[in-house]
Amino acid sequence: MADYIYTLETRLSPDQQKGVTLVLDAAKAAGMNLYLTGGAIRDIITGFPIRDLDFTVQGNALKLQKDLERAGAVVGDADNETRTLLLTLPGGVRAEIAMARSERYDKQGKPPQMAPATIIEDLRRRDFTVNAMALSLNEGSRGLLMDPFNGVADIEAKVIRVLHNYAFLEDPSRMIRATRFTTRFHWPLEERTQARYESGKENGYIEYIQSSSIGYEIEQLAYEDDPQGVLKAYEKEGWLKVLNPRWSTAKVDTAGLGALMKTRQQMNELGYTPEVAPAVLYFLTERLGEKDISDLRRAIPRKDLVEAWKDLDSNAHSLAKRLSGKEAGTPSRTWQLLSSARPEMILFLAITARQQAVAQKIKNFFTKWRQVQQKIPLPEMTELRITPQIPAYPKIANDVFLLLLDGKLRSRTETLKFLKPLAPPPPPPPPPPSAKRGRGAKAAAVAAAAVAPPAAASGKPGKGKGKAAAAPATPVPVKSAPAAKPVVPVKPVAAERHVAPVKPAKPAADAKVSQPASAPVVKKPGKPAKTTKPAAKTKAKANSKPKKKGK
Ligand code: CTP
Repeated sequence: MADYIYTLETRLSPDQQKGVTLVLDAAKAAGMNLYLTGGAIRDIITGFPIRDLDFTVQGNALKLQKDLERAGAVVGDADNETRTLLLTLPGGVRAEIAMARSERYDKQGKPPQMAPATIIEDLRRRDFTVNAMALSLNEGSRGLLMDPFNGVADIEAKVIRVLHNYAFLEDPSRMIRATRFTTRFHWPLEERTQARYESGKENGYIEYIQSSSIGYEIEQLAYEDDPQGVLKAYEKEGWLKVLNPRWSTAKVDTAGLGALMKTRQQMNELGYTPEVAPAVLYFLTERLGEKDISDLRRAIPRKDLVEAWKDLDSNAHSLAKRLSGKEAGTPSRTWQLLSSARPEMILFLAITARQQAVAQKIKNFFTKWRQVQQKIPLPEMTELRITPQIPAYPKIANDVFLLLLDGKLRSRTETLKFLKPLAPPPPPPPPPPSAKRGRGAKAAAVAAAAVAPPAAASGKPGKGKGKAAAAPATPVPVKSAPAAKPVVPVKPVAAERHVAPVKPAKPAADAKVSQPASAPVVKKPGKPAKTTKPAAKTKAKANSKPKKKGK
């Protein structure tokens, strides 16, 4: 049986994983059972990117709102009817938490009768088999996949299949969704589903679509990887005019949308993850009239998305103004300004900037200025003991980078001249090894003598200690050179954090070698027998680590 929890943990981004924990904690505190449902399960199994997290709770999801907000979630909509929360969790993770419910359709075009239900009943009200699965996140059944319609088999067969014959009649938005999923995954509709779809089209089921579903589907369009492709498919199927009667592919700023996706990709490669949905909507509706745009905005349930869409122009305008002023008078100041700007703003301005100078500054920020980091003399810095282990490292590294950026340090000599006074003093020599008594003392003395000359040359007697003391001087440049990337903050928002690598990968191992070798001596100077044992243990530990890494 597949281990879905393992797959979940490996497929989710760190922020999504934190999001799952956060929602799980809130549900636990409220005594509700929690399931991951819908597209997230489908995407975990298929290997497609997991775009958002759909949760279902057995209980009123709205009761979790306060707890989640306290934990940093932003609520985009709280729907009282379906008891559903639309959220943005910390790290920009899009999530939806719905109450498990049953739906009963009594009359065409009328909303269904809803009632709180079990998770299995909830799966029966869903659109397609591949979306009608739930993964338990609860103690006791954690990892259990509920798949009453055999969605996994349809994923394997790569088909979109409705749950029953009345699916499109009951909820005509499923026809729009069918087009969206077939376009995105390039999976066909299963034969009978296709027949029902054609019949639904011919019989004008779409006229009975709920207005809330229209808003929901407009919103979903914004998160597609190929929104224009989906829009084209909608137009072909006749769905686009359902979303707005005057919307067509001719109203799209195709060049703007293309540039947005391309620049987003480039930013992704540099480690930025800008949220593009507001800008996607901007370009998709660029040539629509104001009234139509405000109609679309009113229909979208997620209000934080609408606000971000509305604010795009004015935010970009104010960033452009700042980039044209004194605040961005030098490359280093521009760098700092752009490093603290939201990535989505930079992205949008990169595409829409009218002033050549502003566009050029953004271009330099992403290209030319980043190369300046190559000029930071990392090996020399390591020799000067300016390594990520010292608290002042982030600031020193950043200062050097900014000075290089402004051309204030024009050569390696000038850079070293700047760095030398900032070097920390050499570490004090460790205390001499304590005298041994008995038979072992002789052997230890011989061993010490054998290694003494090279160690003594560096001023650090003793075998283990000689190794430890040498550690910062030699391996660090080699090891820290790749880790030096963060010297130049890659991600603007996290710039400060990034400057100081959180895990200076291997130097940490060195630290382990050096610390225990001397620690017991310091702690228990009067107990010689214990000085050797922990050191030996430490050595064993240090030796075992690289072995693991090598696997
Ligand atoms: N759903 C449904 N019928 C609808 C809308 C949604 O059954 N008209 C259910 C489906 O189970 C769906 C889930 O709600 O999987 C979440 O909806 P949505 O986020 O729109 O779709 P996803 O399947 O998550 O797809 P996406 O990757 O686009 O987010």
